[in-house]
Amino acid sequence: MISMKEVSKTYLMGDTEVKALDKVNFSVEKGEFVAIVGPSGSGKSTLMNMLGCLDVPDSGEYFLDGIDINNSSDRELARIRNHKIGFVFQNFNLLSKLNALENVEVPLMYKGMSAKQSRKLAYEYLEKVGLKDREKHTPKELSGGQQQRVAIARALACNPQIILADEPTGALDQKTGQEIIAMLKELNQNGQTIILITHDTHIAQQVNRQVNIIDGQISDEPRWNH
Ligand SMILES: Nc1ncnc2c1ncn2[C@@H]1O[C@H](COP(=O)(O)OP(=O)(O)OP(=O)(O)O)[C@@H](O)[C@H]1O
Ligand SMILES: [Mg+2]
Repeated sequence: MISMKEVSKTYLMGDTEVKALDKVNFSVEKGEFVAIVGPSGSGKSTLMNMLGCLDVPDSGEYFLDGIDINNSSDRELARIRNHKIGFVFQNFNLLSKLNALENVEVPLMYKGMSAKQSRKLAYEYLEKVGLKDREKHTPKELSGGQQQRVAIARALACNPQIILADEPTGALDQKTGQEIIAMLKELNQNGQTIILITHDTHIAQQVNRQVNIIDGQISDEPRWNH
């Protein structure tokens, strides 16, 4: 489903080059639940942006469902993102002027769902993440963990083939975090492919496979819990 070969990405900061990804080879099969672990600054979010077609590599190949991402137009990439991928961003990326309910609704409407149906589904997912009584709150009226849960509800409500979650439990207490992981596991059992970035080794150990990234280099070998 996902196949990256020798993918590199370098950021230029003034005269200094930062190699965020260095010839990364990474594949994920449909239905896998993969955890990406690595220290701060190792390239995890950069990798997630590439996987989610938000950014394209400087060099290397990326095929998603057989589609050559490097040779796709911005319009095609936007379509792929809308139709295949659910993102939970590290910084949540909620729309600040919209309330929790509207934040979850927006991508559903983009996908072509009616306003009524979007609202119903958005309620349902806010309830699932324990935020039924916070639907009218805008992001700045929510705690960090609550914003994170809105971001999770937004990603899951779209029922995407692939869920890309960057530290989705980073702002949550252990119990709430574990509830979110349980939700992700259930989705995975129903066939969704999940790629999760985490610092939490306890979480990483609960999934099919752990991939380590250090200094933009990946070791995509050890397959645990198989
Ligand atoms: N837009 C950018 N411009 C310049 N450098 C960047 C940019 N984005 C990331 N970097 C650099 O690329 C490297 C990888 O960053 P990335 O955000 O992928 O790390 P990370 O593994 O997600 O870290 P963390 O665990 O702290 O979230 C870092 O050294 C960072 O400073
Ligand atoms: Mg990051």
